Amino acid sequence: MLVRREEAADVPATDAIHVAAFGRDAEKDLVAALRASSAWLPRLSLVAEDGGRVVGHVVCTRAHVAGRPALGLGPLGVLPARQKRGVGSALMHAVVAAADALDEPVVVLLGHSDYYPRFGFRPAASLGIEPPDPLWGNHFQARPLSTYDGSARGPFAYAQPFNEL
Ligand SMILES: CC(C)(COP(=O)(O)OP(=O)(O)OC[C@H]1O[C@@H](n2cnc3c(N)ncnc32)[C@H](O)[C@@H]1OP(=O)(O)O)[C@@H](O)C(=O)NCCC(=O)NCCS
Repeated sequence: MLVRREEAADVPATDAIHVAAFGRDAEKDLVAALRASSAWLPRLSLVAEDGGRVVGHVVCTRAHVAGRPALGLGPLGVLPARQKRGVGSALMHAVVAAADALDEPVVVLLGHSDYYPRFGFRPAASLGIEPPDPLWGNHFQARPLSTYDGSARGPFAYAQPFNEL
């Protein structure tokens, strides 16, 4: 398996991945809206390629914590037939490492609290990062990176297209 940056030719494959992984169009449409927005960070849109086929996709986009730059992670999707073989983990490790190399301070996501701690995520509330919806609880998670200094505290805001999800 290869993990690499998304290229223009990958868009139909990443669309198909999100529709199949989530069983609906919303995440595909979210990625399209993010790609068209100023929050899109091409260096942090990664695909997993296996046997010449794109089987997984993850993206981080520009978000803010109390007005300071942060990253919002998502969506992450793997083709159902390729799940539970390490593709999602490879994408997560790669995108966190890429974000760290770019001196981003923190990656934030809404996701399963059984899955993301293995990649260093912890409840965002423990870092003083507040979710847009208080009901998100421990599903709202954050991964501090090398340049994190604890000053990113307060309300978290995803890129605008997330508000239309
Ligand atoms: C979540 C997802 C990206 C994981 O990808 P993957 O390639 O199957 O992940 P990996 O093979 O690296 O890891 C599999 C592990 O993730 C766990 N896992 C997968 N989905 C999970 C979930 N919804 N809740 C908790 N754990 C989950 C598996 O139980 C497995 O755990 P184990 O290693 O302890 O056996 C993939 O299942 C997917 O695309 N799901 C549908 C879309 C989705 O829910 N995306 C995430 C939104 S938060």
